[in-house]
Amino acid sequence: MGFNDVSRHRAVAGFATSHAPRQQVSAIVVGGGASGIAVLGNLLEKIEHGKISWIDTEFKGGRINRKYREVPSNTKVGLFLAYAQATQPFLDAIEQTPKPNAVTALEDLPQDSTCSLHYAGDMLQLLSDGLVKHGRVERFEGKVAEANHNEETSEWSVKIQNSSSGSTESRTAPIVVYCTGSSPTTVQLPTSSTASSPALLDLDTALKPTALAQEIVSDKEITVGVVGASHSAILVIMNLFKLAQKTHPRLRIRWFARSPSLKYAVYKDGWILYDNTGLKGEAARFAREQLDGENLASSEAGKVITRVDCSGGAQKEREAMTRELPNCDYVVQAVGFTRDELPAMSQDIVFNPETGGFSDAQTGKDLPGLFGAGIAFPEKVVDPVGNVEYAVGFFKFMKFLKKVIPNWVAKTDK
Ligand SMILES: Cc1cc2nc3c(=O)[nH]c(=O)nc-3n(C[C@H](O)[C@H](O)[C@H](O)COP(=O)(O)OP(=O)(O)OC[C@H]3O[C@@H](n4cnc5c(N)ncnc54)[C@H](O)[C@@H]3O)c2cc1C
Ligand SMILES: NC(=O)c1ccc[n+]([C@@H]2O[C@H](COP(=O)([O-])OP(=O)(O)OC[C@H]3O[C@@H](n4cnc5c(N)ncnc54)[C@H](OP(=O)(O)O)[C@@H]3O)[C@@H](O)[C@H]2O)c1
Repeated sequence: MGFNDVSRHRAVAGFATSHAPRQQVSAIVVGGGASGIAVLGNLLEKIEHGKISWIDTEFKGGRINRKYREVPSNTKVGLFLAYAQATQPFLDAIEQTPKPNAVTALEDLPQDSTCSLHYAGDMLQLLSDGLVKHGRVERFEGKVAEANHNEETSEWSVKIQNSSSGSTESRTAPIVVYCTGSSPTTVQLPTSSTASSPALLDLDTALKPTALAQEIVSDKEITVGVVGASHSAILVIMNLFKLAQKTHPRLRIRWFARSPSLKYAVYKDGWILYDNTGLKGEAARFAREQLDGENLASSEAGKVITRVDCSGGAQKEREAMTRELPNCDYVVQAVGFTRDELPAMSQDIVFNPETGGFSDAQTGKDLPGLFGAGIAFPEKVVDPVGNVEYAVGFFKFMKFLKKVIPNWVAKTDK
């Protein structure tokens, strides 16, 4: 994932000339997923006065709750609880929610185990529902369409488009935080000029067993290709394998992998090697037992899965795909996530994954008051042996925000 590359989001003609009334608030948080919720909780603690505008398309806790409720977590229950208890506004929201609730449900689980993400999704929904009732939070269900910086006043103005009515509102603040999330990446896969190419099977569908079972017919021979070898790919393969075992006996899987061996998180004394890039939880267990290296040849999964060797560089990968993809009816691209489109702006921006800030791509100058967090704008971390990774996960967002938000607020406090 290119996390610190330039984002191009030039202002669209039309918005710049509208004359909606502008209201001043203390901060504006764009996005209501795990990172937007974490940013809001922390800003409410650190900025002691004024309203904070919070904008999301649905206020359902972002993609985890909307799309991934059937996915097993790759982090431990205890980290979801630590996230839920990390700010006072969160604790107030929990306190005001009748029990049993999503947080007591997490408390009842073994803290050192992973869990289904519906538990985490319910917890995000609880916090989201509580935060929108906070006296200093102004909720807008809609989309931030445009953001502009006024250098003289050092303030940001955003235009918010209401989801249902389409009407526009404006807000102005010294701080704007993009917590806008990412969606599955799709790339142009190589095809031969003569053979037909497989239909794209949406990654989000493939990660949801109930939807996947309906998407693929069970009474015909169907082959699904899966590209990738990280969490998403392994879970998709696991979902397809379970279907083949139960309701779809004629389903076959072709796994396009760059290496026969997989990468796992390694639990060290006080830290985790490959914490952000290695397999964990159920995906790791399934991969070790059924897929990895020689195991595939003798495992149950090996009876329905064929690994397509995509090792040896781009040319060899292209050749393998051109040869094998025409044998697939569907293909799932599990090749990472790409940040969603940002509000239109008058400059291209570059994210700084150490501070959470942005600079102007052309001038290189900092854009004071504009920040980012979450899967689209994660912290760059270096582990004790020097591996560089990007920290994506509920509690990782929280840890980063606890570190940087005091600086964000101090820099913009006038
Ligand atoms: C399949 C999967 C499983 C994961 N499992 C785990 C796990 O087990 N444990 C863990 O800790 N982490 C996990 N993660 C990582 C991470 O926690 C999630 O990716 C999480 O959804 C990131 O939250 P976010 O707030 O950054 O983005 P999102 O959840 O995508 O939320 C972004 C929100 O912003 C809104 N938005 C976007 N643009 C605008 C706009 N212009 N105006 C208004 N609103 C806007 C969107 O509608 C959305 O609601 C997982 C990720 C994936 C993809
Ligand atoms: N709860 C869970 O278990 C769960 C499930 C899914 C996702 N997640 C989280 O969501 C985030 C994204 O995970 P992800 O697995 O979707 O993506 P990812 O970690 O970015 O991994 C993408 C994978 O695709 C491969 N790839 C990229 N381009 C390719 C191409 N053109 N052809 C073949 N392979 C290609 C990469 O291989 P190379 O490494 O060789 O480039 C890598 O194996 C992570 O933070 C992850 O923790 C969590």
